[in-house]
This record gives sequence, C-alpha cells and structure tokens, in this order.
Amino acid sequence: MSSSELDAFVESHLDLQVKISYFDHLDFLIRHGFKECSQILDVGCGNGTFVARLALDHPQIQFKGIDKRKQCIESGQKRVRENLEFSQVDMFARESTYDFSRFDGFLMRYFLLHVDNAQKILDLLKLKSKRPSRFWIIDLDWSQFSCHPPHKDFDKLTQLVKDFCTKISVESKGGQNVVPLLQKLDFQNIKVEHIPFSMKTIDLNDLALYLRQEVQCYSRMSGRAMNDPETAQILQFIDEEVRSGEYQISYSMILVSAEL
Ligand SMILES: C[S@@+](CC[C@H](N)C(=O)[O-])C[C@H]1O[C@@H](n2cnc3c(N)ncnc32)[C@H](O)[C@@H]1O
Repeated sequence: MSSSELDAFVESHLDLQVKISYFDHLDFLIRHGFKECSQILDVGCGNGTFVARLALDHPQIQFKGIDKRKQCIESGQKRVRENLEFSQVDMFARESTYDFSRFDGFLMRYFLLHVDNAQKILDLLKLKSKRPSRFWIIDLDWSQFSCHPPHKDFDKLTQLVKDFCTKISVESKGGQNVVPLLQKLDFQNIKVEHIPFSMKTIDLNDLALYLRQEVQCYSRMSGRAMNDPETAQILQFIDEEVRSGEYQISYSMILVSAEL
C-alpha cells in the first residue's frame, strides 16, 4: 500500500467511525455542556468528518479543526462552511503562537490517547485556554477488548494493538490513565462514561468492517509487511468467525468531560 493509498484507507476508516458513533458521541457532548459553548476547537481533527457533521447540525456554534498533517487539512478544506474552518497546527510545535484563548470548548476525539505525551497537550491547553472552558476526550479504551468464547486469533488482534501502541510509544491502557492525569492537572468536574462497542450495539457488518480496517491500519502502521501471515489470519477470523455472529467481540469507548 503506497502512502496515498494508506491515506485514502485511513480516511474511509475515520468516516466509518463517524457513521458508527456520531449520535452516541454527540449525545455525550450535549449532556456535558456542548451547547453552552460558542467556539469549539477539534484538536487532531483528522479529515474533519466528525467536526463537519457537528458544524452542519449546530450552525449557532463556530468550529475550528486543527491537525498537524497537511493532507488532513486539505481534506478538511473541502468541508469548510460559514461556521467551520481548518488550520494546520502541530500541538507539539516548539514555538507555536496559536491562540487557544478564543475557544471555550476543546474536543479531542481519538487524539489524546494516540499521542506519545498526553500530559504535554493537557498542560498546554490548561496554560493557554480561557476560563471557563470545557474539554471532551473520546477514545478507544484498549483495556476493554474482549472475545467470548476466547479465540487464539483474537489474542493475536490484541497483541497487534499492543505492538502498535509500543511502536508509537503510547500506553495501550491509556483510557484508564486519562482521569488520574486530569485530576493531577487540577481539571474540575470530571465525568467518565464507557460506551460498549459490540455487536449488541452496532450492526454486525459495520463491526466486522470496522475491526478489519483497524487491523489493516495497525498492521501497516506497526511496520508489518503487506502479506504478513499473522495479519491474514486475524482478517480471516474477522471475515469468518466474527461475521458468523458466534463470537461476542466487545470494544469500549471511553468518554471523558472536564472543565477548567
Ligand atoms: C485517529 S486521528 C483522529 C481524527 C479525528 N479526531 C476523528 O475523530 O475522526 C488522530 C489525528 O491526530 C493528528 N495528530 C497527531 N499528533 C498531532 C499533533 N502533535 N498535533 C496535531 N495533530 C496531531 C493526526 O494527524 C491524526 O489526524
């Protein structure tokens, strides 16, 4: 897979994530102060699909998506509207002068637990944001993977995730660490929810496709070859056993809201 093919693949995966979870995530945001904000920043917005949907459904709120990758911002630019803009910003850039103080809401969806220094990001936002501000962190909780009955190829899938996390220096149990981190940094009114992500809650075909794409992304991004035999075994397990409905696969999303 060339890098442009990988980009297209990641883009379609992000779109599937929005299709599967938009309403659950929106419901969480709305129950935690979303509509009281007037300027919301989506940090690590990817291709902008999620923030664009928010902007479409909430014309009274101004949105901005930032991401360090030029390709993401180019994709986002296609979705620009009156209440939505995008900029290329690297949250770890040393001499960034980016003005975070104009926002009163900060969304980090599949971002904070994908970077190798979550505390640095939260320190920066704490330092540069105005008061009051709201923060929403939505991510996969990798510690909550399960398969019933157990299957050896599912264990390979969890190992693949761990390999990927090691490669990008991220703690695979990151979801469990986010609350202590927010407490340590003195964020207030911290609320946590877990959304089970399984065939009980989403369409079996969407779940199987989602898992398939996760495996392909993680396999490529952790440096495995295109024809890696273990990846092929995991994909076969998804296509045959998971799709048959005989194995109960469950993921979990962690949703955290906090204030400063
Ligand atoms: C998994 S994607 C999440 C996309 C989007 N938030 C969503 O919900 O679909 C993570 C994004 O974080 C971006 N990212 C990673 N490190 C970053 C940094 N230091 N500054 C800004 N963006 C970053 C990546 O380029 C990627 O697009």
